[in-house]
Order: sequence, then C-alpha cells, then structure tokens
Amino acid sequence: MLLPTLLICAKVLLVLLSICAVAFVVYSGYIGYVHWKYAHLPGPPVDSFWLGNLPQLKRMHKKGVYTHTLFLKWAEEYGPLFRIFVLHKCLVVPTSRTAIKEILTKSKVYPKSSVTYNRLYSVCGARFLGRGLVTNTNHKDWSTRRASVNPAFHKKSLVIAMDQFNQEIDRWVESLTTLADGHTKFSMAEKISRVTLDIIAKVAFNMTLGCVSDDKSPYPAAMELVLEGTSLQMKDPILMWRRGMQSFISKVKQAVDVLRKAFQKTIEDRIGAMHSGNDVPNDTLQHLLRGLEINRSLTIEDLLDDFATLFVAGQETTSHALAFLLNEVGRRPELLQRLVDEVDEVLGDRTHVTYEDTERMQYMTQVFKETLRLYPPAPGTARENVTDVTLEGYNIPAGSFLVMSFFVIQRLKKHHHDPEDFDPDRFADDKPRPLFTYLPFSTGQRSCVGKRFAQLECKVLLCKFLKTFTYSLDPDQSFDVEEQGTLRPRGGAIMTLRKRR
Ligand code: HEM
Repeated sequence: MLLPTLLICAKVLLVLLSICAVAFVVYSGYIGYVHWKYAHLPGPPVDSFWLGNLPQLKRMHKKGVYTHTLFLKWAEEYGPLFRIFVLHKCLVVPTSRTAIKEILTKSKVYPKSSVTYNRLYSVCGARFLGRGLVTNTNHKDWSTRRASVNPAFHKKSLVIAMDQFNQEIDRWVESLTTLADGHTKFSMAEKISRVTLDIIAKVAFNMTLGCVSDDKSPYPAAMELVLEGTSLQMKDPILMWRRGMQSFISKVKQAVDVLRKAFQKTIEDRIGAMHSGNDVPNDTLQHLLRGLEINRSLTIEDLLDDFATLFVAGQETTSHALAFLLNEVGRRPELLQRLVDEVDEVLGDRTHVTYEDTERMQYMTQVFKETLRLYPPAPGTARENVTDVTLEGYNIPAGSFLVMSFFVIQRLKKHHHDPEDFDPDRFADDKPRPLFTYLPFSTGQRSCVGKRFAQLECKVLLCKFLKTFTYSLDPDQSFDVEEQGTLRPRGGAIMTLRKRR
C-alpha cells in the first residue's frame, strides 16, 4: 500500500519539477531575447542575467540613494538615452529635450504605459484610483473625462474659490499659534498634509473633513496608508502574497474603504441636493457629475475613481512641494527675508489674499518654481510607443517601456547651470529658459490639470504663514529626498515657530 502511494508522489513531484524546469528555460530564453532586443542601447552593465540591474538599484536604495538619483548618474554617464534591465523588462530612459518633446507631445503615438498605470488601478487588491484621470490609458475615454473637469481649473473657477482657500488656511494658521512659542518642535510636513487635505476636500468637492481641527480625524492616517500601500506594491510585485504583510494589507484595504465611502457619501448628498432643487456649488464635483450625465457609459464607480484621483493628486504633491520649499528657504535667511518683504509689500495690513495678490508675488513664484525644479514631487512619468520609433538615433521597438524622469531632466548640467544649487533667481523673468528642460507638471495632453490650483494654494498658504510666523528649522533636519512613489523631504520639515507680531 505504501509503495504505490510513494510512486504516485514521486511521479507528481517529477511532473512538477519538469514543469518548473520548462518554465525556467522559457523564462530565461525570454530574458535573453529582451537583452538581445535592446543590446544596441547604451546603459550600465547588468549585475545578473536574471535580475538585470535590480541588485544595483536595491544596493543603492539601502544606502539611501534613490532611483532618480541613480538615473541622474547614468544619464551623465551614458548620454541622452540609456537602458536598464529589471528582471524580464527593459526600461528605456530618454533625457534629451528632443526626445522628451517627441514623447510627451504625441500622446497617440506614446500613450501612458499600461504596464505601470494598470498596476495603480487598485491598492492591495482594493480599487482606488481605478481608471481615473492619472491612470486611464484609454485615450478616448480619458479625453472625454478630462474635458469635463478642465473648466473646474480655469482661472474663473479658481477666483470664485478664493474665499474657501482663505478660510481653510486661516483656520490652519490659527491652529498653529498654540505651537508658536519658539521652542516646541513639530513636523511642519504633517501639519501641511492636514491642511492640504481640508483644502482639496472643500474647494473641489465642498466636503468638510476637519483634519486641521480634529486630531482624531481618520482621513490623514487613511491617506498615508493608501500611499504607503501604493508605493510598496509598485516596488514589490508579490506584496499581496507575502505572509508577514497580511495585517498591513488589510489595514490598507480598510483605509481605501474609509476614503471611498466618504467620497461616495459626498456624491450621494450632492445628487440628493440637486434633486431637491437646493443650491449647489459649481465646483469640481459638479463638473464631474455633468460629465456623468453626458457620457452615459460612465458609472458611479468611474466617478469615484476620478474623485479619488483628484483628491490624491491634488493633495500629496502640493503638500510635499510646500514642505520642500520651507526646508530650502529655512536654511537661507536672506531668501526668507526677501519672501517676507514681498508678502508685506503686496498685502500691507490685509490678511485676505486675492487672486491678483498671488499674481504679484514675483519672487514667491520664482522660489516655488525652483523648489519644483530640484524636488519635483511627481518625479516622472511612463509611456509606451505603439510603433517602432527612432529616438536619439536609436531604433526603439514598438511596445517599449519609456521612463521620463523630470528629476533627471531638471538636474542635468547641460540643461541648468549649477543644477544642484537652490537659486530662485534662475527663474527671474528676463532670463531665457530652454524648452522641455523644466517639467514638474509634465507637458502635453497628459500634463497636470491642477497646476494653477497648486500654485494658488501654495501661494495663499505661504502668504498667510509668512505674515504671521517666523520659523527656525531643526538643526538636524535632513535635506535628502525620500521616495514613496512621490518625492517627499526625508524626516518631514521639523521646525519651531514664533509669532511675528
Ligand atoms: C505641486 C503640485 C503638483 C505637481 C508637482 C503635479 C504634477 C503632476 C504631474 C507631473 C502629472 C503627470 C503625471 C503622469 O504623467 O503620470 C500630473 C497629473 C495630474 N495632476 Fe498634478 N501636480 C500637482 C498638483 C495637482 C493638483 C492640485 C491637482 C488637482 C486638484 C492635480 C491633479 C492632477 C491630475 C488629475 C493629473 C492627471 C492629468 C491627466 O492625465 O489628465 N495635480 N500632475
């Protein structure tokens, strides 16, 4: 009885081993084919046939050197286009102005990469960004949805939103006064993250989150978990199957649920208000709902995708940009003084900031631009070419994975003099700037819809903050960058505050 059972087990084992061996040979053959296909492109030597350049990336990550810094080194070393291999994939990284212009301005030849953006559909198995504006790779579907939200970001709509920007930021400034004793250290990045959540919720969706007023609000923690989950799943394709990560995964799923339920309730309340004939604001949500009426193939889940996308894209980037800015300005007293002088001159005794005031903040604009040059919170984008193309003299086969790093483009010596220096005067009006060397909001059809919104929000916040407080950075504050999908300042922006008057 025992012998036949053992024989069956041995046979099953043999079949399994044979399947594994065949799969291994096929996979190795495929890797060899990918290496052969891109052998004509320059790039760093691979560390291992199977893993490609992955071990090198991991080694550098352990040392605190993150992907885009390594890309910058390779761009300086291998020229305007290089390739790296990660497992069975080849990443083609063009960094020249001509290649960037070609790729980002022809979105039909170079649509967003389905490999990258489909992976952002859900986070830890729960639908979050779905087919929203950032992750949508279907050009036709995307363009109708983008057309419906565009008007919400026109100057006219933003001018109307100025009162809401002012009110949310006034509440935040008020909440900070309790900390302004000159010696209490706190993370300004965390405080900014709260107010930017309240702002996007109020201005875009007329939703009151109360993240500033309520320390126990579930939304900041839920957002942080969702972002962490997104970042981890991008780095680790088998995250979902890791035994030790199951509790984290279920927390991320709960966080997605908290956020999407809150978004859904806001949508239902708005539809209810419209049906009852009540006045409703003409905000981003209203534009999304109009889009739903016009495009009958859209569902409420699609609407929730766009809601979540605008919420994340509109909050995280702006929040990190402000924290980077306060760090850089905080270590340059002369620059801080120039900003404060400008705020005092433009606002005088007023505390309410108008749209026109923000347009008059010339130096603040320069500081904001320089911050985004050195620290683009959304550091890159990915495309694929639908046909064979020639970039920088190299044939790039159809279906290649093209990675554009704004971080690299904005730090290359051939694009910007003394690129590592924080010098807002490089953006003074009279200086010529070569096109396609500065793209923190990307460019072309898939560029940021919220660029104007972000600038306005940052300026109103800076005006009110600098009018009320002076600050000192913690001497141990790092100026390194941390990569969590987006870029953020390592260790936040730890500081002490004092009231100016
Ligand atoms: C400093 C702040 C911001 C930066 C640096 C930034 C940067 C970017 C970049 C680089 C992209 C292209 C992403 C890609 O190709 O995958 C993008 C897209 C997008 N951004 Fe922003 N963004 C900022 C603020 C905002 C705000 C405030 C909103 C909305 C309120 C917003 C909404 C979006 C949306 C919806 C897209 C997708 C556009 C499309 O493909 O149609 N962003 N942003």
